[in-house]
Amino acid sequence: MKDPAIGEILVQQDDLAHRVRTLGEQISLDYVGRSLLLVGVLKGAVFFLSDLMRCLDVPCEVDFMAVASYGSQTDSSGVVRILKDLDAPIEGRDVLIVEDIVDSGLTLSYLLRTLKARDPATLEVCALLTKPERRKVELPIRYVGFEIPNRFAIGYGLDHCEGFRNLPYVAVLADEEQWPSPFGARSGEQTREVRGVPGLGARPT
Ligand code: IMP
Ligand code: MG
Repeated sequence: MKDPAIGEILVQQDDLAHRVRTLGEQISLDYVGRSLLLVGVLKGAVFFLSDLMRCLDVPCEVDFMAVASYGSQTDSSGVVRILKDLDAPIEGRDVLIVEDIVDSGLTLSYLLRTLKARDPATLEVCALLTKPERRKVELPIRYVGFEIPNRFAIGYGLDHCEGFRNLPYVAVLADEEQWPSPFGARSGEQTREVRGVPGLGARPT
């Protein structure tokens, strides 16, 4: 039986596969003759990144960052702490940040600032999903998979309390009020502790 927390499907498995292939072709054309460093933002982007990377026919490498953003439980404040940094310098590299979803944009805005300061040759963003209605900062997102409405999404890497990342499609979290808040406590309630980052309301992105 289907888990009752899984609501309406926003992006079907076939549409994901097709769009990822198209993005891969576009990126391969744009970077022809160069080699690319994909920077995946843990954990959600891992699934999209691994599919996307297999659709690229330019030489590429992969590295990962993990960040936690502070603020209320459902809204990031833009104050971000790096939990895991890149393994290697990016100076002079063609870097493509790969994100699962851009919501307010504050996390990505911080990442762009931080990575730009390390002098890459180029720095662009590929996001599988964006929620334009939620955007607080305008960002140059060069490649976008799908725009989705302002609903809490799960699947294909996106989690609710660490669950549902393995769904092969993207769905809405059904009846959002019924389940514990996506990021722990509801906004205004107590904060939760995330992996050794005490009491600051950090949520891993
Ligand atoms: P932002 O700083 O508000 O743009 O936060 C972006 C991060 O929040 C994403 O990388 C996701 O990890 C997480 N996030 C935002 N919206 C959703 C959602 O609908 N489902 C699951 N995670 C989300
Ligand atoms: Mg993320």
